[in-house]
Amino acid sequence: MSHPTYETIRVDVPAQGVGLVQFNRPQSLNALNAQMTGEAFTALEIFDADPAIHCMVLTGSERAFAAGADIKEMAGKTAVDMFAGADVTDWSRLMRIAKPIVAAVSGFALGGGCEIAMTCDMIVASETAVFGQPEINLGIIPGAGGTQRLTRAVGKALAMEIILTDRRLSAEEALRFGLVNRVSPVELYLKEAIELAQKVGERSQVAVRMAKDAVNKAYELSLAEGLVFEKRNFYLLFSTEDRAEGMNAFVEKRKANWKNK
Ligand code: CAA
Repeated sequence: MSHPTYETIRVDVPAQGVGLVQFNRPQSLNALNAQMTGEAFTALEIFDADPAIHCMVLTGSERAFAAGADIKEMAGKTAVDMFAGADVTDWSRLMRIAKPIVAAVSGFALGGGCEIAMTCDMIVASETAVFGQPEINLGIIPGAGGTQRLTRAVGKALAMEIILTDRRLSAEEALRFGLVNRVSPVELYLKEAIELAQKVGERSQVAVRMAKDAVNKAYELSLAEGLVFEKRNFYLLFSTEDRAEGMNAFVEKRKANWKNK
């Protein structure tokens, strides 16, 4: 399926197997409105369904990954509006993407911007990246996973400080506290995110999907349940052609030729 014409995002295939989705509302620092998140999720779904794409990169601009949910769009909403489906922070479509997504973050990643980056599978940050949850300044709290994902990523004490006082994390702090995978110079962060996505794309795609699926379960299940889930995916992979190929290639001392089957 080919991409429709988008107004608020750009899409590209910058390297073999890598689908790039870029927020493009520079006038509002990529504030996440319904149109832009909707277009981004559509683009990710199209890449997810495309066998030529193995991994996606989600990015913004050098100045802003995304400065949060669009406050101007949210300002007139009632609780009933939000509950009835006007909630721009409903990212269930993003959470259903099966292929891994690398967030390439530069500049502001605030509120929903920080939350959407944390919903991706890995984060490559530029040296200028700033992570934060400033919702408390608006009389609200994070509503797209911030209280849960940030707490799991950096621990309770620091998450409390970030959410209760709008403490911002620099890229180096985000690395130190385990929120991001790596920090790169601003001129390299996108290139490095694409290279990371390519590395994922060079593996057996069946195994990659099963691995993402199992790691994400660590967020949701008890250890005992998670171990059962992992074992099920592990056994399932013994039915794939790639499992036979991977083990034969090791024994024959050659590179595996993945069929993704
Ligand atoms: N929503 C709507 N518009 C936004 C925006 C947002 N989240 N963030 C920035 N903008 C707009 C500004 O209104 C401004 O537009 P105008 O030129 O039309 O006035 C433009 O982007 C540039 O912003 P600034 O002039 O403020 O730029 P700055 O460099 O001085 O400051 C900033 C940058 C610190 C990011 C500041 O814009 C800011 O604090 N933004 C709001 C951040 C925020 O509170 N995010 C949380 C939103 S709520 C949320 O995300 C809920 C959730 O859990 C999902």
